[in-house]
Amino acid sequence: MKKIIALVMALSFAPAISFAGGPPPATQAGIESKDYKWNAQEGEKIEALKLKGNAKDGKEGYEVCGACHLPSGAGRPDGTFPQLAGQHTTVLIKQMADIRAGLRDNPTMYPFAKELTDAQELANVSAYIESLCIPAVHGMYEGPDAAKQIADGKVMYEKECIECHKANGEGVKDKFYPVLAGQHYKYLLRQMTEIRDGHRRNANPDMVKIIKKYDNQQLVAISAYQASLSMPGSTCKAGPAAKTSKKK
Ligand code: HEC
Ligand code: HEC
Repeated sequence: MKKIIALVMALSFAPAISFAGGPPPATQAGIESKDYKWNAQEGEKIEALKLKGNAKDGKEGYEVCGACHLPSGAGRPDGTFPQLAGQHTTVLIKQMADIRAGLRDNPTMYPFAKELTDAQELANVSAYIESLCIPAVHGMYEGPDAAKQIADGKVMYEKECIECHKANGEGVKDKFYPVLAGQHYKYLLRQMTEIRDGHRRNANPDMVKIIKKYDNQQLVAISAYQASLSMPGSTCKAGPAAKTSKKK
């Protein structure tokens, strides 16, 4: 019943443009609502977290994802699609469920996330992504002032982010704190801007409070620093896997 109501609401508020893949995502208030718990354990997410994922089965489920995130899970250095390889399974599962629930204003993936209601399938796809090696290259800040931006970003990061995202940007798996190291610079910058401006409403409110006070320039510096860190885990060797990732 709830689903039907959400669908009807989504349809009645739909803008005149429609896009392939059905109705636009319902949007949820998330952290803008007093009762929202950013890490509430419910729905397909909690089921998927309890299940053991089968990477073999997940490979098949991942095929459709590869169209955007690339078969290697490297995403795009221009930041349109995040790198998924190297991310914690808990984070992958939470973000997929949250995108489906309308907590991130990004309709591109919604039609695909919408289909992912099966907890075992979610667990399988995440297990498959976890099995991918970490691409050797990713999008970095490339301005001539990169060294200064990274240095400024490091100071801010170590003051306010390290507590949750840890010294090397490795995050904390069982707390849903994402790996930031190795992620594309432009994706990080876009996410930080969206978190600050209320377009991504599924984050830890303590982080949102911190990010709210940063101006665009500070977000550039801190993103440049995050992207300069290396993702923990096994890096891809040159070979078939590396070939699938797009060279800049
Ligand atoms: C049509 C392109 C497209 C397809 C297909 C797609 N995604 Fe995405 N995905 C995106 C975009 C764009 C984002 C970034 C969303 C944003 O900026 O809020 C994203 C974000 C994500 C994130 C969040 C990453 C993070 O660091 O927060 C996960 C996890 C994810 N996708 C997994 C998947 C999986 C698994 C599939 C296949 C079932 C899939 N995606 C299919 C476009 C796509
Ligand atoms: C209190 C813990 C906490 C603090 C402090 C914190 N974060 Fe986060 N951060 C999180 C959590 C939890 C998420 C995942 C939120 C979600 O589920 O959407 C996240 C997500 C992110 C993302 C999105 C990653 C992705 O893959 O989509 C970025 C970027 C980020 N944080 C950067 C920062 C920066 C920079 C700081 C310091 C200015 C910071 N965070 C401080 C907990 C924290």
